[in-house]
Amino acid sequence: MGFDRAIKIAPSILSADFANFGAEIQAVEAQGADWIHVDVMDGHFVPNLTFGPPLCKAIRRHIKTVMDVHLMISPVDPYIEAFADAGADILTAHLEAGPHIHRTLQAIRGAGCKAGLALNPGTGLSDVEHLLDMVDLICVMTVNPGFGGQKFIHSQIEKVRRLRAMIGDRPIHIEIDGGIDPTTAPLMAAAGADVLVAGSAVFKGGSVDQPAPYGDNIRAIRAAAQAAQA
Ligand code: DX5
Ligand code: ZN
Repeated sequence: MGFDRAIKIAPSILSADFANFGAEIQAVEAQGADWIHVDVMDGHFVPNLTFGPPLCKAIRRHIKTVMDVHLMISPVDPYIEAFADAGADILTAHLEAGPHIHRTLQAIRGAGCKAGLALNPGTGLSDVEHLLDMVDLICVMTVNPGFGGQKFIHSQIEKVRRLRAMIGDRPIHIEIDGGIDPTTAPLMAAAGADVLVAGSAVFKGGSVDQPAPYGDNIRAIRAAAQAAQA
């Protein structure tokens, strides 16, 4: 996984057919997805439950690109090894998930994964400053985590702009998660984001039997973002 700031579209399988993950992943990758975003929720840190390491391990063999695992769980540390063994390329933990995010990020890199740091919409950037040398990706949540299909929170645009300046030349991706579609994607690309997670806006209108809309959706988001990228 080399580093570049080209726009990457990361469909969230939270909006895929849960009975058909393998085929859904193959379909979105064939239609142009750059990464596959996997939303892990524990019903405690966020008010929704999804899946854990065994499911990640089972879908891993269908992913040819990058397995981007977003951990919306607390505590995180007891599960890092299991998600790394399941084949995650990137493991992203929330700043708000516990008092020892520094240790968590160390453990993620120690387990051989790229380390991601996610920030809820209400979280500021001051604590991020001391973690910049420990992360490969910062995920700015543009909805409150827990569900797909929520409305984009515009106040996060200015946060991304400041984060981009803070990052400078460091090889750190800025990922945006929540409410991304061809209207909101350019706002974030202009502010400095390069990885755009999209669930409902990618999977809408298509299916594994009719995957062409996935490609149309991905191209529409990518084109809007590329035109606006700073
Ligand atoms: C929300 C998840 C997101 C979500 C995005 O907690 O982290 O990845 O699935 O879904 P959309 O694109 O529908 O907002
Ligand atoms: Zn996510």
